[in-house]
Amino acid sequence: MSARFEPSGPLRGDYVPPSDKSISHRAGLFGAMCDEPVTIDNYLDSADTRSTLKALRTVGAGVEEDDGRVVVRGVGLHEALEATGGHLDVGNSGTLLRLMPGWLAGQPGGVWTLDGDESIRRRPVDRVVEPLAAMGAGLEASDGRFPPLTVAGARLTGIEYELPVASAQVKSCVLIAGLLAAGSTTIEEPRQTRDHTERMLRRARVPLARDGLRISVAQVDELELDVVAVPGDPSSAAFVVAAACLVPGSRVVVKELTLNWTRTGFFRIAQRMGALIVGDLEEPGAAQDLEPIGELDVAAGPLDGTMVGPEEVPVAIDELTLVALLGAFADGETVVKGAEELRLKESDRIEGVVSGLRGLGADIEDTGDGFAVRGDGSPLPGGVLDARGDHRMAMLGAVAGLASREGVEVVGMEAAAVSYPGFESDLQALLT
Ligand code: S3P
Repeated sequence: MSARFEPSGPLRGDYVPPSDKSISHRAGLFGAMCDEPVTIDNYLDSADTRSTLKALRTVGAGVEEDDGRVVVRGVGLHEALEATGGHLDVGNSGTLLRLMPGWLAGQPGGVWTLDGDESIRRRPVDRVVEPLAAMGAGLEASDGRFPPLTVAGARLTGIEYELPVASAQVKSCVLIAGLLAAGSTTIEEPRQTRDHTERMLRRARVPLARDGLRISVAQVDELELDVVAVPGDPSSAAFVVAAACLVPGSRVVVKELTLNWTRTGFFRIAQRMGALIVGDLEEPGAAQDLEPIGELDVAAGPLDGTMVGPEEVPVAIDELTLVALLGAFADGETVVKGAEELRLKESDRIEGVVSGLRGLGADIEDTGDGFAVRGDGSPLPGGVLDARGDHRMAMLGAVAGLASREGVEVVGMEAAAVSYPGFESDLQALLT
């Protein structure tokens, strides 16, 4: 399905983004590990997060859904999975694919196979196979690297593990396995990645210790969560924020989103480019357990190019394609480095954004580990952008269209439903 996005008048008004996808997945999974029922308010209704609820039902948890509220009746953390094995369909969800094995690995006797759609079969799982195997689980993947992934649960032993990639999914997987493993488990990440797992586990009364980039957990008997309220998703909001930055005359107030510093790198990068984004972004380095919830006041204005280095990449990972878009409208050069992980997302997002924006008239090049884009402060002409089945590329194409001179046709717009089913109507509401 293709959709056309014509140059628009200003975006104006209040905007509440959809619920956070990462926090929804975690709330569902940790809810299912609890002994008592857990109520999740504002659970995201999207294809990815529905895959998680389906997987939880398959492993024996009770899941009741009622208008954004989900009650999970968990099976407990240990030796708890009702069936001793089976098949789990993760759909398009990389987060479910990487987090769930951490729990399954510690269920002795259970043998589970995780698989999903065509794109999930290109997402590497060796990054979770290696640490879980070192803890004692049995794992098999296609070519040792890709789904289908089979996990044979075992009694695990804690490890010390240096993550070879900055990945919150891998970090979370090993921490979950660490809750089930004898002794303690310590991991060290190369750079700070999103920390929702750590915040939620501490709220579930897990004595998790953080020391810079090192995190330790020990075996626990149970998790205790009762209510989790999922805040708005900064990654989804970033598309509307980018539109409000680019379409002249726009002024949008984004409400009720998490301003967790490990998720708001894009807003800081945009501010550095001159974007008029005002709000109480959490201070980098903050280590509180609650998600800080707030609002952002965004207005359109001229932008300048900027440099984004490897340190900033993980805290803006899902928004880096939007940095390219802002860069194409900015005056000067914008360079993103150290972002090779983008090649392993729902699509190769370096290749996709470079060929996509070039097709709309941008001066952009692939630099191997990122991209460089040059603008003179004027809008892109427009054209056709192929989303290649990737939700964030589809939404990028839509925003580019609103801000362009001649409009953009997005091929594969339906992919947006993976994280944000109401995207087009939310944009429309701000345009009228
Ligand atoms: C996510 C972590 C990131 C991100 C993904 C969601 C998570 O992936 O790109 O959209 O919820 O932990 P990596 O951990 O692979 O970087």
